[in-house]
Amino acid sequence: MSSSHKASTMLALSLFMASVMTAAAGNFLQEVDITFGGPRANIYDGGRHLTLSLDKGSGSGFQSKKEYLFGRFDIQIKLVPGNSAGTVTTFYLSSQGPGHDEIDFEFLGNSSGDPYTLHTNVYTQGKGNREQQFHLWFDPTKTFHTYSIDWSPESIKFLVDNIPIRVFRNWETIGIPYPKSQPMRVYSTLWNADDWATRGGLVKTDWTKAPFTASYRNINVNACVVSSGSSSCGSKFTNSMQGGKQNLVLDAKTRNRMRWVQSKYMIYNYCTDFKRFPQGVSAECKRSRFL
Ligand SMILES: *[C@@H]1O[C@H](CO)[C@@H](O)[C@H](O)[C@H]1NC(C)=O
Repeated sequence: MSSSHKASTMLALSLFMASVMTAAAGNFLQEVDITFGGPRANIYDGGRHLTLSLDKGSGSGFQSKKEYLFGRFDIQIKLVPGNSAGTVTTFYLSSQGPGHDEIDFEFLGNSSGDPYTLHTNVYTQGKGNREQQFHLWFDPTKTFHTYSIDWSPESIKFLVDNIPIRVFRNWETIGIPYPKSQPMRVYSTLWNADDWATRGGLVKTDWTKAPFTASYRNINVNACVVSSGSSSCGSKFTNSMQGGKQNLVLDAKTRNRMRWVQSKYMIYNYCTDFKRFPQGVSAECKRSRFL
């Protein structure tokens, strides 16, 4: 395919996508239900803001009212400030039932002054073990920052303030399962995980500092809605983009920004954990040059 033909195909596809995807402009009252924690989860300001909190009795959480198959999910979060050791704040997509798919952001708290860890993972057909962890290049408790999941039939991108920090490509061509048929909901929770979260569980939650609160705004869902088995995007979308190394999913500039983050801020990568995977790391790890 010539590059101009390719560009016009991409343009047609994005126009098509824009016409069928439902864009939700950030109202928590319309988009989500509180799932646990009762009054510890609070939607206010006419749905423009939401807070989750955690105390000794419980954490709290919410989930999207709708289920989606592909789309872009953005949210702004200001994480638990001060001594957040032992707490975990999550933002993720997940399908339900056995063999589920899941795309995770988890923010592992830390003692005052020590950096949060941003933990990411991808589960396909019930299998995870694809952790990558990062420190952030800013203090995520001072102001709101945007965390995004961009999920298409070709790739899953994790973005922080619009910078991709991780891409999981569709490598079905080499036999790696890819999330593409189970609709997912958006979830977010704040809970106590002091048995593992901070320095591997050594630092416990300091309950004298409770309640711990994370703040949310600008949830933006631009995605294909699935209801009673059919997608607002029809079947065209799924069929029109197939994984394969012939198309790169990042342009050169964006790829360089991701490499910058990964070289400076990545603190764990399952792809290089040869101790944990003595039989060899997963096959997608050797393909990262095709991003
Ligand atoms: C907490 O801070 C320590 C010391 O800087 C760091 O090694 C660790 O990665 C941080 N994050 C967590 C979740 O333990």
